[in-house]
Amino acid sequence: MDALQAILTRASVRDFTDQPISDGDLHTILEAGMSGPSCVNARDWSFLVTRDPEILTKMAEANGRPAEPLKKATLGILVLGDLERAFPRAPEYWVVDGSIACQNMILAAKALGIGSVWLGTWPQMDRVERQQALFDLPETVVPHSLIAFGYPADPELKGRGFYEEDRVHMDKW
Ligand SMILES: Cc1cc2nc3c(=O)[nH]c(=O)nc-3n(C[C@H](O)[C@H](O)[C@H](O)COP(=O)(O)O)c2cc1C
Repeated sequence: MDALQAILTRASVRDFTDQPISDGDLHTILEAGMSGPSCVNARDWSFLVTRDPEILTKMAEANGRPAEPLKKATLGILVLGDLERAFPRAPEYWVVDGSIACQNMILAAKALGIGSVWLGTWPQMDRVERQQALFDLPETVVPHSLIAFGYPADPELKGRGFYEEDRVHMDKW
């Protein structure tokens, strides 16, 4: 699958089969996460990875009801901002850098035939604090987003991607 096809056909997947994701595919997904741009090349992220169903359930519960899909996933990645590595003059870029890593991993997974759904965490601080407590994270390591991965229960599921002409402002507002 080429990059454009992955982008245009991606859809959030919230129901998964039991088929495990191989170590090779996990490595590719993480490599994609680490291959995006980051402000001043700060690479101010880390990734907490699990395939353990008990940990997946605890992660899901820490985020509340919207993260239910994680309970059916075979792989979960908690993307973490690493504030000690962030650009000192504008540390808030850690959020942008984390988002790029998320989307890169989601698209890499799509290209491998693996479904995923982004589960928002930061800036909902109750979720952030529960994830921090669950994994006993240092204060400078901030949960950004959770992503649930797995092979889609419905292999036909395709993106509703659509183009909206009125969102485009050519040369002037
Ligand atoms: C920042 C962010 C947070 C999200 N949080 C959740 C979530 O907690 N639970 C969920 O089921 N989907 C979540 N999503 C997925 C969106 O609901 C989904 O991307 C949107 O409805 C568009 O559907 P699509 O991804 O299938 O195109 C989140 C997406 C983003 C980008």
